[in-house]
Amino acid sequence: MIALQLKELLLQSLVHERGGVLVYQTALECARNDDLRDEWTEYLEQTKNHIAVLTRTCVALDLDPGEMTPGCQVVQHTGKSLVVAMKMALAAGDPAGAELVACECVVLAETKDHADWELIGECAKAAEGAAATALQAAYDEVEDQEDEHLYHTKGWCRELWLQSLGLPAVLPPPEEKQHVTNAVEAAVAKDNRRN
Ligand SMILES: [Fe+2]
Repeated sequence: MIALQLKELLLQSLVHERGGVLVYQTALECARNDDLRDEWTEYLEQTKNHIAVLTRTCVALDLDPGEMTPGCQVVQHTGKSLVVAMKMALAAGDPAGAELVACECVVLAETKDHADWELIGECAKAAEGAAATALQAAYDEVEDQEDEHLYHTKGWCRELWLQSLGLPAVLPPPEEKQHVTNAVEAAVAKDNRRN
């Protein structure tokens, strides 16, 4: 494994989680559905903890958690763009539209989050010694939560869009009711909603 790229992954992941806090805070300004607000309030708290987990992991691997590589600056920019997009939607005076934009922004943010943690899991398997222990502990603490953040919000995004179209919608989405935690379960939940 290439140590420099592992460092890049961990630092980008940390910057992305920091951006995730701002994304959730803004998304909560847009959310109107009470169940969605409850879900995102929980995810916001979990995301704050992910920052702590990644900070600990960086320190354990002798990395400076404050270092901003060029890649980190791009990640930070992307996160801010999502916040700006939601602010634009809020300013447009269409609350239902802003809620949809927030769902899409959270899905975009959680897609990278999810990918980051999958990669961290692969690195944990490939690493050795203290680094392997630190990476695995971080992965074990966070991975299930990241699955929920992505798959459940994708469900909310789909169902709220359907509702906005005047089509039958299942709210809260089946992904949430069925406690979906992986892509296979998400596909089954989505498929079963039509039956
Ligand atoms: Fe997340």
